[in-house]
Amino acid sequence: MVPAMSTLLLLLLACVRSPEPVEAPSPPVVVDDPPPERATGCRTDVEGVRGDAGMVASAHPEASRIGAAVLADGGSATDAAVAMAVALTLVEPQSSGLGGGAFLLHYDAATGQIEAWDGRETAPAAATPELFHDATGPRPWPDVVPGGLSVGTPGLVRLLEAVHTEHGTLPWGRLWTPTADLATEGFPVSPRMARSIAMIEGMPLRSLSRDPTSAAYFLPGGAPLAAGTLLRNPELAATVQAIADGGADAFYEGPLAARIVQTVQGDATNPGRLTEADLARYRPVKRQPVCMPYGERTLCGHPPPTSGGVTVLQILALLDEASPETVPAAGDPADLHRFVESTRMAWADRGHYLGDPDAVAVPTEALVDRAYLRERAAALAATRAEAYAPGALAVEATPAGDLCAEGADTSHLVAVDAAGNVVTMTSSVEMAFGSGVMVGGFLLNNQLTDFDFTATRDDGSPRPNAVAACKRPRSSMAPLLVLDDAGRVELALGSPGGSRIISYVARVLHEVLDQGLDLQTAIARPNLVARDRDVEMEIGCGEPAWSPDQVQALEGFGHTVRRTDLNSGIQGIQRQGDGWLGGVDPRREGQVIAVRAEE
Ligand code: DON
Repeated sequence: MVPAMSTLLLLLLACVRSPEPVEAPSPPVVVDDPPPERATGCRTDVEGVRGDAGMVASAHPEASRIGAAVLADGGSATDAAVAMAVALTLVEPQSSGLGGGAFLLHYDAATGQIEAWDGRETAPAAATPELFHDATGPRPWPDVVPGGLSVGTPGLVRLLEAVHTEHGTLPWGRLWTPTADLATEGFPVSPRMARSIAMIEGMPLRSLSRDPTSAAYFLPGGAPLAAGTLLRNPELAATVQAIADGGADAFYEGPLAARIVQTVQGDATNPGRLTEADLARYRPVKRQPVCMPYGERTLCGHPPPTSGGVTVLQILALLDEASPETVPAAGDPADLHRFVESTRMAWADRGHYLGDPDAVAVPTEALVDRAYLRERAAALAATRAEAYAPGALAVEATPAGDLCAEGADTSHLVAVDAAGNVVTMTSSVEMAFGSGVMVGGFLLNNQLTDFDFTATRDDGSPRPNAVAACKRPRSSMAPLLVLDDAGRVELALGSPGGSRIISYVARVLHEVLDQGLDLQTAIARPNLVARDRDVEMEIGCGEPAWSPDQVQALEGFGHTVRRTDLNSGIQGIQRQGDGWLGGVDPRREGQVIAVRAEE
């Protein structure tokens, strides 16, 4: 039985003070591989928060407050997650919102079951592999991000409705009205939001100033909103109230759907192909989580179309197979090298095999099979940097069927309720402020730029992540659950960061599970990112900072190291005794709030 509000005491346990980010040194701007968001600071006041019943962690204090109030009202973890996701649309519009999509894992404490919910955006029915081409071939990425062309059918609202139908306890409308109220009353623009606006306008994309509605909202009078400005969003208040009253249909059908389509198709320079039929047919997919034994524990992630779950699990298993019996402490140079090599090897499989499993055959189970990974790990180079080919796995025939016939910025949140149900969800509009196109008070995503821009590889073989009608672009989002030997949630986490998400999440899991750090300590350590290019070692945040010795050691293994800001945004919870430790990322503005039963 969930305790009533009167018997719950909402506690802000050791919450962080209002964020006062310390300016990070500005790294060189890399034009061909920009992070979806630049760093906007590094907090020095972050501490883990402990609680013995419910807990929420999100990327913005206001969203966390709204989520905690839902738990205090007797709401489930799902209820709190829905309320926070809606609130983030208003207070963290650079990262996620109603115009985007999400991947969510739900753990049911009564049955021990995990469900993976896929609310990823889909390509319009009129999309073709040449979606991002002009007469000369693929257009440059910065040219196609802003505007209607990159907008996928948003998945978040239908996802929230479906999960709430199965796991919600409070009425749907109760979860939406706090955001409608806040949008009407106004909220102070956070330092990160203000800097994100200035950042995107400083890039060639300039996605906000090119859209008249976004320009009026984010750049009033032509200047980026300043931190602390009281910002009201009556348009969003009306949208949110309409969904509160009419359910997801109020988003996917009727006047709002018509306006979304009109704006996307009517975009002056990058008209999109989204139609009302695309919106009306959108459905989230409930999938089997991808799970793998890990010692006494079990690791579970979201399966494709995100690559996050499979790739993080592969990295952990390869590292495990290659590590000595006693894993050295965090930061040990040989351990850092093994992490990089494991990630690079997993990356080869990611590029070769992973895409939307409803459009291409993906050998998900085989990719996380421990015997396969043990064999792969035998080829990891112990003392030098190596390039890896994908493993040889049988792939079935491409799934038949018409996908269309079926009836970055980014943000991670976690909620656990008094009964122990857990939601861990990463949601996204892709690039900071998505496509920059604003309708109904929210921004539309640019998630279609997560597709490969060419349909075939140099050898002529098909790419699993080519654009196709109604297909879901491959993601790197990696909401993760770790179960203990009794099948209870021990850890739940995730992060934004584009394809760097995989390294962010894998590093923290390695340091917590294999090296014994607590969650908050691990989150606050410096990031190390490996993919299929230079190794990135964080500067500007992370305690203790990477030392010259550690950098030189990795270079000594033959890695090309780039020092840069690495803008993770991890939120998570870790079981500690009878309660929870909640952790937030010092690189962003997140907050943990614990709710506990009154004595
Ligand atoms: O789905 C993905 O992997 C990306 N579109 C996520 C973008 C992202 O994380 C941006 N965050 N900073």
